[in-house]
Amino acid sequence: MSITFDRASNLFQLNTKSTSYLIGIADDQYIGHIYYGRKLDNCQGCYELLRTEERPFVPSKNQRDKSAFGDCFPYEYSTVGVGDYRESCLSVRTPQGHRVCELVYTGHEIFDGKPELPGLPSVFAKEGDQAQTLEITCEDAQIGLKAVLRYSVFEDADAVVRSVLLENTGSGPLYIERVLSACMDLDDESFEMLTLTGSWGRERHITKCPLTYGKHAASSTRGCSSHQEHPFAALVTPGTTQDTGEVYAMHFVYSGNFLALCQKSQHDSVRMVMGIHPEGFEWVLKPGATFQAPEVVCVYSDQGLGKMSHTFHDLYRGHLIRSPYLHKKRPVLINNWEATYFDFDADKLVEIAKDAKEAGIEMLVMDDGWFGRRNRDDRSLGDWTVNEEKLPGGLSAMVERVRGEGLAFGIWFEPEMVSPDSDLYRAHPDWAIQVPGRTPAQSRAQYVLDLSRPEVVDYVYACVAGILRSADISYVKWDMNRQFTDLGSMALLPEHQGELAHRYILGVYELQERLITEFPDLLLENCASGGGRFDPGMFYYSPQIWCSDDTDAVERLAIQEGTALLYPLSCIGAHVSACPNHIVGRNTPFATRGNVALAGTFGYELDITRLSADEKEQVRQQVELYHRYNHLVQEGVYYRIASWQENHLYDCWEVAAEDKSEAAVTYVQVLSGVNVRSRKIRLKGLDEGALYRLEGTDQVYSGQVLMYGGVLVKMEEGDFVSRVMHFVRV
Ligand code: DGJ
Repeated sequence: MSITFDRASNLFQLNTKSTSYLIGIADDQYIGHIYYGRKLDNCQGCYELLRTEERPFVPSKNQRDKSAFGDCFPYEYSTVGVGDYRESCLSVRTPQGHRVCELVYTGHEIFDGKPELPGLPSVFAKEGDQAQTLEITCEDAQIGLKAVLRYSVFEDADAVVRSVLLENTGSGPLYIERVLSACMDLDDESFEMLTLTGSWGRERHITKCPLTYGKHAASSTRGCSSHQEHPFAALVTPGTTQDTGEVYAMHFVYSGNFLALCQKSQHDSVRMVMGIHPEGFEWVLKPGATFQAPEVVCVYSDQGLGKMSHTFHDLYRGHLIRSPYLHKKRPVLINNWEATYFDFDADKLVEIAKDAKEAGIEMLVMDDGWFGRRNRDDRSLGDWTVNEEKLPGGLSAMVERVRGEGLAFGIWFEPEMVSPDSDLYRAHPDWAIQVPGRTPAQSRAQYVLDLSRPEVVDYVYACVAGILRSADISYVKWDMNRQFTDLGSMALLPEHQGELAHRYILGVYELQERLITEFPDLLLENCASGGGRFDPGMFYYSPQIWCSDDTDAVERLAIQEGTALLYPLSCIGAHVSACPNHIVGRNTPFATRGNVALAGTFGYELDITRLSADEKEQVRQQVELYHRYNHLVQEGVYYRIASWQENHLYDCWEVAAEDKSEAAVTYVQVLSGVNVRSRKIRLKGLDEGALYRLEGTDQVYSGQVLMYGGVLVKMEEGDFVSRVMHFVRV
């Protein structure tokens, strides 16, 4: 049993294979957080950690200082209005306009398995014994609100997944102004807060700052999880490395507005909360209705960031990504975006397909520009009819020609958007998100469709599915190229306008659910101007996401390092592009661009017909490398060996087979060093007692030497040079 309840001490113990999460009930009413950390085989004495004997005592012993209790009790789920002045999880307005809510324990249930969340992505258990769930029910009888705090424990995967269900048990409406999904109160350990931050073209860089008094947050109010901040936060003890230090991490399984906030209080306690961003949010809960908040994955590691990464990777591979491609080798693809932008026709694509086939590439993806009058980015979104001037004979003729060259065919859509210059907008201007009487701001000359409206969802689905039914299409790139402004729906009643951003995301989830249900063999790749909606929510629907529009090999080192902190490499859309790089203008060796893209789904984003004979030969060799190492990228254990973000000189990562029989190590010398002839690279995750041969040489090393001594990497002249070393057990 991973979850137990001891009635005598009012203690819940949630155990994974190496962690324990303890919850206590104080005064038979208040649900408090006791402990999250290394697994405890014996919890004797832990109740004391709730500090119910310390001043100001629990309310039953000291009503006089009830508000002081509220401000220091480690609530499992904090509420507004009863003396807890720290960041709270729940704010509910009554029809009378009050915002006071106190949730007290009324019961609980423990059962095998893990329920799905209707309409939302969620971590799943395949069989009953992979997970157990605890539901703690608490209520504010006065306002008629019931909350179910749900904890699903994935014992083997070492994670606890939390969510909250609200129910209106009263007779009048309740207005939910804030409903976060998880809260954790810890004692301060001079924590640093680790987040993933960036911008378009520079997503998910690892950022750390000391957690001082006050509030520090990562958030998005952009309508998507965003390029700028990631729905993730971790508290780490000072000096945490890949292998040492304590890490308390939360990751939100959601793709819209979010808040991840850590606060150090006057009492030197630290609170970490995560959930839907309250800004602009309000949900009307009618009598008898429920609201399901999305899930937060909680992970604890006492062995640094590396163990945290492994936990997330295993959980997402085993319990989040549903695609049949999860364990399948993905086709090496070539995408025509950076090759042609909007300037292409069927003959050009076939030319690319011919050369691609010769180099071993397996799929051609036709990007933006194939529909309506889409010869520029300011028109035709929403008009999903094939442009026969570019593709004579229509889509099926195009697909047949590419298939005739021996390649599979993939296609790009941006289904959630509408151009003001489109037949769709002219017919249904009210389908765009907007506030009546105001001209909505355009971004990339487009508006966002109001996916809170079922008829809009149906229209969009009919367009995408119609195209997919019309030809033999193996892959879809689902793009989303603008963030929200002018948040208003022409269909929602005034008191429901605060529901729009969440209803929109539910619409996106519904569309993708319908898509993968009707086309179960489709390889779906999500994308949002690169990595603007790269989050666990979207991985419930697609096994890979385009990681960034920035394909520069050096910038990608930082982006892919931050991304791989949480996501398996097989999720990370990575391609080789032309130089000078279209975004940063940098020149990097073709080989390095390949070695970096090999740590992802792998493909090309260039005009192969313009490559030199030597470069085409390099493409052939890279495709060979892909076939040689991809099983490691796909299924192996990822180790971060060195980070050029930290050392400013070189980057290095490893993927090792789970059975330790082989490992591929990628080393990138970002800057050549002066008077440094070689570096020792220490490997991880090998068999100490085994011998390994470096592929392509006669050199044999013991596992111990590779892990504790290291392998010598010679300094080469020039910047951005790289190599992949493949060690195979002999
Ligand atoms: C943004 C994507 O990230 C690019 O790869 C490309 O598909 C463009 N949109 C097309 O408009």
